[in-house]
Amino acid sequence: MMNPKTLFAISSLASIFVSCANDDPSTLIDSTPINGLATYNQNVKSIIDNNCVVCHAAVPKNGAPMSLVTYEQVKNAVLNRGLLTRISLENGDSSLMPQGGPRLPQTTIDIVNKWNQDGLLEK
Ligand code: HEC
Repeated sequence: MMNPKTLFAISSLASIFVSCANDDPSTLIDSTPINGLATYNQNVKSIIDNNCVVCHAAVPKNGAPMSLVTYEQVKNAVLNRGLLTRISLENGDSSLMPQGGPRLPQTTIDIVNKWNQDGLLEK
């Protein structure tokens, strides 16, 4: 008969294995739930870097009208250039960003929306 401590250790280990097996590496960065306030440095910068900066570079490319490289630029795009609306449009909408789609996963869009609701903090 195993003692309760051993049983507990085995079941903890088992649940660690199960939770690792369920993690999809491609969604780890963008869909990790946020504890507390969303900030640009911790939550939003990687989303913009991975999905937008290919065109909205320091020197914008492919016809993009502005850079989305710094905190101030991204914040300004939320406040004055309709960034939240642009990423929330449906697939196939010619104004959707990233341009040409596909639409970002909803969990990713939700993070940018939360950043706005939390006050567009830098860090
Ligand atoms: C393939 C290149 C490309 C990618 C990737 C891209 N954009 Fe754009 N973006 C453009 C172009 C070109 C325009 C100008 C045409 C238009 O307004 O639709 C634009 C316009 C915009 C505008 C409107 C600017 C204004 O003042 O009218 C916003 C906001 C924007 N992009 C945000 C984003 C965000 C956020 C991402 C990433 C999620 C992104 N874009 C990804 C090319 C791109």
